[in-house]
Amino acid sequence: MGRYQEIYEKSLADPEAFWGGVAQDIRWRKKWDRVLDDSRAPFYRWFPGGELNTCENALDRHVDEGRGDVLALIWDSPLAGDRKSITYRGMRDEVARIAGAFANKGIGKGDRVIIYMPMVPEAVMAMLACARLGAVHSVVFGGFAAHELAARIDHAQPKLVVSASCGIEPGNRIIAYKPLLDRAFEIAKHRPEAGSIILQRPQQTAALTAGRDTDWNEALEEAKPAACVPVAATDPLYILYTSGTTGSPKGIVRDNGGHAVALKYSMKAIYGVEPGEVYWAASDIGWVVGHSYIVYAPLLQGCTTVLYEGKPVGTPDPGAFWRVISQYGVSAFFTAPTAFRAIKRDDPNGEHLRRYDLSRLRTLFLAGERCDPDTLQWAQEKLRIPVIDHWWQTETGWAICADPVGLELFPVKPGSATKPAPGYDVQILDEEGNQVPPRQTGSIAVKLPLPPGTLATLWNDDEGYRRGYLTRYPGFYLTGDGGFKDEDGYLHVMGRIDDVINVAGHRLSTGAMEEVLAAHPDVAECAVIGVADQLKGEVPVGLVVLKAGVQRPDAEVATELVQRVRDRIGPVAFFKTAAVVKRLPKTRSGKILRGTMRKMADGIDFKTPATIEDPAALEEIRGSFARLGYPRKSV
Ligand code: COA
Ligand code: AMP
Repeated sequence: MGRYQEIYEKSLADPEAFWGGVAQDIRWRKKWDRVLDDSRAPFYRWFPGGELNTCENALDRHVDEGRGDVLALIWDSPLAGDRKSITYRGMRDEVARIAGAFANKGIGKGDRVIIYMPMVPEAVMAMLACARLGAVHSVVFGGFAAHELAARIDHAQPKLVVSASCGIEPGNRIIAYKPLLDRAFEIAKHRPEAGSIILQRPQQTAALTAGRDTDWNEALEEAKPAACVPVAATDPLYILYTSGTTGSPKGIVRDNGGHAVALKYSMKAIYGVEPGEVYWAASDIGWVVGHSYIVYAPLLQGCTTVLYEGKPVGTPDPGAFWRVISQYGVSAFFTAPTAFRAIKRDDPNGEHLRRYDLSRLRTLFLAGERCDPDTLQWAQEKLRIPVIDHWWQTETGWAICADPVGLELFPVKPGSATKPAPGYDVQILDEEGNQVPPRQTGSIAVKLPLPPGTLATLWNDDEGYRRGYLTRYPGFYLTGDGGFKDEDGYLHVMGRIDDVINVAGHRLSTGAMEEVLAAHPDVAECAVIGVADQLKGEVPVGLVVLKAGVQRPDAEVATELVQRVRDRIGPVAFFKTAAVVKRLPKTRSGKILRGTMRKMADGIDFKTPATIEDPAALEEIRGSFARLGYPRKSV
């Protein structure tokens, strides 16, 4: 039996012994009473009775153990034209002071703090400062609009919002965050009692509202360093909102203990990275990849993490990633396939790559969306190192399936995320909940309990967690993805089986976009589907039927709809196409045939469902797609 198989089987046969052993690697203030509490199944709790502080494990511990002079974080921003590096000692001291500033605002254990910031070191430190105080952070991605921010303020009920004057997008586009924050404060019903702390960036400063906003520097000037507050292993570390099938975001709750244990373990087992090495995840702290692999895991492991404020291309060229990797000696690099597609598009022969010394880069990891075999092969050919596709979700916080580089490297199969990670009993189920044979596609589910580090529940919504994930197959967690296992036990994830789409590695809800379209006064009904896109994987396309009697030109309504989605959800939705149609194809029971339309737009063969109300409606849609240029030839 190989090393992986032995470890994997142990992790499933006796999870308490396995994770109890792994947990020794974390510094605890008080040891747990039990490794796993299953008394409230299907709600499981890891390490109840244990106490720790996540910030202490991420920073103070390394200083105490003599690694204070190792670099904790390198910030590199081609967009700001700036860079900075901070040692573990420097970062501990700075975070302690930021925590002191938050404490002066009345923030303590269990209080929520929303962080709406661009990719600057202060954003990472604000997250860690919350962890230091036992407060619960909720980071909101900068590409979301004021309404989305307001929805999160109302849901998480924060005491404080931490933000910045602006973000920067390519082409010297300054994105003013403060007006978005002001608007969110106007829309939200909840009033954060400590107001906000605003970091003023040199590119653009923001006017502060007296009595509500405090300048970051002023808040810090008055602050004394705060100590780490021990919290229960089961206490929440953060809430991260993600897209579900409706417009209401789901607040994924991460605990402190299981999270620290699993993430530190993953750095060795999955990424094969040792303390002191440089690790880079080119994502954004607003996403789970950023939470886990820009902030927590590399710091828990004592690595140097890279925080990159830039894009794969255009900042300034498609060699941007290679420059960072060579300049800082990155050993393991993690990004989304879409970033590689952008580089490949602009530099197909890898000429920029040849300008840099990438000899320290051992492994490339890809996740966030299905990795198409072309992109995988291009990366393999150009980099000549293992390229690992691994599959996970905001809910799980770390990989469900991967080629576990630190345990045993399996041969890579294009299109597959390889094998289940330790602790995940991944099964492919049919409609009735039976396991299907190899190569047969089904719903991917994970037998409970999920390993440490995965979601504890949804914020203030145990019932939503049960309903959304645990009832479809009793005893299992429903991933929402479909796929199959092959005869070697490799998992092939084929895509979502619900209304979630993946645009440039960003998870978005078509249901949320439909809610925005349906709210337009001229719209009678609508459907949003994800269609294949060569760069972004998928992009949303909206089809709307206007109310009887609406006389306005279709193009005018379509433009308004595009603007509405941008205003309500944000530019990140990348909703650029809306078409007015006479009617939507439906089943006789009134269900819109989204899946069939999607296949039609992608040029994939499909069978017209026997239950269709009127086949002519589907043919009309074919004409609408043709006018929009679908199916695209080269996808
Ligand atoms: N703040 C404000 N606006 C933002 C933003 C932020 N933090 N991030 C993105 N946006 C805006 C962009 O300006 C763009 O707006 P536009 O329509 O006005 O141009 C829109 O949101 C879409 O942005 P993006 O998805 O970045 O698309 P792009 O066309 O600018 O770049 C890629 C395409 C592939 C280069 C880019 O998506 C990318 O690097 N993706 C990596 C994926 C990733 O990090 N995934 C995270 C999970 S691993
Ligand atoms: P997010 O919660 O934003 O991380 O998105 C999770 C979803 O992205 C998953 O449910 C999948 O649909 C998709 N996804 C992430 N990684 C992969 C992968 N390696 N292969 C296929 N799909 C992936």
